[in-house]
Amino acid sequence: ALRQSFALKAQKQNQNFQYQLQPQASYKVTVLGAAGGIGQPLALLVKMSPLVSALHLYDIANVKGVAADLSHCNTPSQVLDFTGASELANSLKGANVVVIPAGVPRKPGMTRDDLFNINANIVKTLVEAVADNCPDAFIHIISNPVNSTVPIAAEVLKQKGVYDPKKLFGVTTLDVVRANTFVAQKKNVKLIDVDVPVVGGHAGITILPLLSKTKPSVSFTDEEVEQLTVRIQNAGTEVVEAKAGAGSATLSMAYAAARFVESSLRALDGDGDVYECAFVQSDLPDLPFFASRVKLGKQGVEALISSDLQGLTEYEQKALEALKPELKASIEKGISFIHKQP
Ligand code: NAD
Ligand code: LMR
Repeated sequence: ALRQSFALKAQKQNQNFQYQLQPQASYKVTVLGAAGGIGQPLALLVKMSPLVSALHLYDIANVKGVAADLSHCNTPSQVLDFTGASELANSLKGANVVVIPAGVPRKPGMTRDDLFNINANIVKTLVEAVADNCPDAFIHIISNPVNSTVPIAAEVLKQKGVYDPKKLFGVTTLDVVRANTFVAQKKNVKLIDVDVPVVGGHAGITILPLLSKTKPSVSFTDEEVEQLTVRIQNAGTEVVEAKAGAGSATLSMAYAAARFVESSLRALDGDGDVYECAFVQSDLPDLPFFASRVKLGKQGVEALISSDLQGLTEYEQKALEALKPELKASIEKGISFIHKQP
């Protein structure tokens, strides 16, 4: 009788997590840099997804323990670990979505561009392996500086003859997550309803929240627009300074990246109503890459949502013009990094 009552209790507890226990689809997700500050909580959140059947964790070190730990969660996906260059290819075979948070984070006083020299090579090497092993996968680039690492990834994929611009994304979801949080706090609106598109890029003034396009419609004073815009642009630095040398945003980033993974999987699974902001190849405005809202579908980006860029306020229009030279330079730096290779 005691055993039966324990069994019933376990059943009930499991029912509370039924969402996670019932597989709804069988996609394979690979995280490159899975033992890091972002990689670990991101892997945990992806492990919760009912859309994932295989979760592959790759890092250059310390990933065995992370995978052993995660594999005990009673959610559908099978977790496998892969360590070091010799296991990279196997971590990627058959992947539908590859998330790349590998690389070094900022310390106080640094810009994201100060990470270029180390992270450019890491992203190059990892994307080469993606091109060789799962060229059809959606690729989510988190490693900074995103404004340059995404163009680097595009050039690598082009050189390998497998570039599909619809499937390469710089992850800017955290900018949207922050904008939604800060706007809800400031205007005392229900957080769950708030949606602020954030366009441009992912560094300093290239991060441009379009507060005038906030849904539901909210009105802001000029002072509020200025304060919110600057806070959203500096939010990464806010965390870097608070961590005081121990790195940059990891938990909020993992949350944001997991949302982008889930949206991608829903799109792959045929949901026709999936929209996210991301830094993608673009012709809005006159830059080769630009973050905007995009409609996601089975083949990746189905449409760029250009209407967000129409009818901007004077403040937004000026900020858009002001960000273009910096964003253009960061994109060109990424592209020329690949073309300067011996
Ligand atoms: P971290 O140092 O905690 O973790 C990085 C991980 O990458 C480590 O486990 C390391 O072993 C691994 N790694 C290094 N070289 C590798 C390689 N060649 N192959 C596989 N793995 C490798 O850093 P973190 O806090 O997780 O940040 C990672 C990156 O994400 C940084 O570049 C950071 O700037 C960036 N970031 C981006 C955003 C965004 O919004 N896009 C937000 C936060 C952080
Ligand atoms: C962020 O926005 O938090 C990340 O890009 C990390 C950083 O360096 O600020």
